[in-house]
Amino acid sequence: MKIFLIGYMGSGKSTVGNILSQSLKIDFIDFDRYIENGTSKTISEIFETEGEDEFRNLENKYLKEVLLMNNVVVSLGGGTPCFFNNMELINKSGISVYLEMSVYSLVKRISKTKRKRPLIQRMNTADLKYFIEAHLEKRKLIYSKAHHIIDSENKSPEQLAEIIAMKISR
Ligand code: S3P
Repeated sequence: MKIFLIGYMGSGKSTVGNILSQSLKIDFIDFDRYIENGTSKTISEIFETEGEDEFRNLENKYLKEVLLMNNVVVSLGGGTPCFFNNMELINKSGISVYLEMSVYSLVKRISKTKRKRPLIQRMNTADLKYFIEAHLEKRKLIYSKAHHIIDSENKSPEQLAEIIAMKISR
């Protein structure tokens, strides 16, 4: 079994993925950390020194490694499904789950953690709202190709993990 959690930055992929892997008793990979371990650089350092295009190449390269694994929950980066043919590869290789969240909730959640997210690091809250609105609109076209779409508003990570476990066991 291989489960991919996808969704926008701040939608809770890592927290939910970790809990889900424990309840399914399988491994967990936080894909951003996986890239950081592989490159010995932080995501912010990769963006700063090599630029976004190179980050997307690395993402595609490391995704192909993860596709070969089994019995794992993988929490992907917010942009991972949206470049190259990554979404197609993800859907062919495992079960994809989109944690869907409103712009309002995303802005609230991301504002607190934007320092480690290079795409939005330097934005104030008003800019952030406009950026996420437009960005999510485009990305939704890809995210909605997921096998399962989970309304993640007002639910705890534990509740979300339980909902996902139920959906994939059907
Ligand atoms: C990105 C999301 C980040 C990280 C990078 C780019 C994106 O992952 O991969 O900063 O393009 O949405 P999280 O979704 O885990 O924050």
